[in-house]
Amino acid sequence: MSDASSKPDRYAVMGHPIEHSWSPFIHGMFARQTGQNLTYRLMDVPPEKFRAAALEFFTGGGRGLNITVPHKPAAAEFVNRLTARAETAGAVNTILVEPNGELMGDNTDGIGLITDLTANLGLKIAGLRILILGAGGATRGVLGPLLDARPATLTIANRTPERAAELVEEFAKPGTLSGCAFDAISEEEPWDLIVNATSASLKGTIPDISASLITAETLCYDMAYGKGDTSFTGWAREQGATRTVKGWGMLVEQAAESFHLWRGIRPDTKLVLAALQAT
Ligand code: ATR
Repeated sequence: MSDASSKPDRYAVMGHPIEHSWSPFIHGMFARQTGQNLTYRLMDVPPEKFRAAALEFFTGGGRGLNITVPHKPAAAEFVNRLTARAETAGAVNTILVEPNGELMGDNTDGIGLITDLTANLGLKIAGLRILILGAGGATRGVLGPLLDARPATLTIANRTPERAAELVEEFAKPGTLSGCAFDAISEEEPWDLIVNATSASLKGTIPDISASLITAETLCYDMAYGKGDTSFTGWAREQGATRTVKGWGMLVEQAAESFHLWRGIRPDTKLVLAALQAT
């Protein structure tokens, strides 16, 4: 850690594309709020250059990286050591330098979602009936922490049901975790929480699920975020959902967890989240 008179410690986020990332804004606010002397910049790195760019960043004295799409699995291969949760996720979103100089890969996405659901939105996950839409990297990244929070049921529904089945087999939680196609989602009991972890909102479309899955009590959470409604939150409200949430909180909370890993200080996320939600 450096004092205010010395050169700032260097951090960055690598992705492709990356220009719309909010991470510099978020970490800039965290740094000001906690009085940390650091810089945080965007690095647009195509897949074939990821390893070389990450190596250059750290050999040049960089202190920590956030990793985003499409480099998270490659980052898990790149680091010297993985935390248990990064290993489970098969993906790294945070790299830090350990005291011995080795690079540690962690994944704060799952804990980011859990903190948003519990601390910001007041949910108690234990005992809930949760439906997660999508079976890609976004779902894989949060499955471990979600299962650890002991929901009654966690069902993964995916357009390609084989991918959901693969995750169910890998995370092996019989009695709790199951997988299916969109047209086979159980309607026997209402869902407490539906999480959209597909990339459909990024393309302005919605997963093709039955409208009758949405009740007034269902919290409809889209991992995507942006100005106004996402296609999923807008559609869910049209179907009668009274609580729809975009993924700003997950974004800010995963960032806060990374910041804590790097700097040993936990920033207050409330103001940053309010600023983003107001965009
Ligand atoms: P990532 O690793 O970034 O999550 P991915 O592995 O391509 O990206 O996963 C994207 C997820 O969004 C997948 O579950 C995908 O469904 P398929 O496995 O059937 O491809 C889902 N997805 C993308 N567009 C979708 C759409 N229009 N409707 C429903 N699901 C969609």
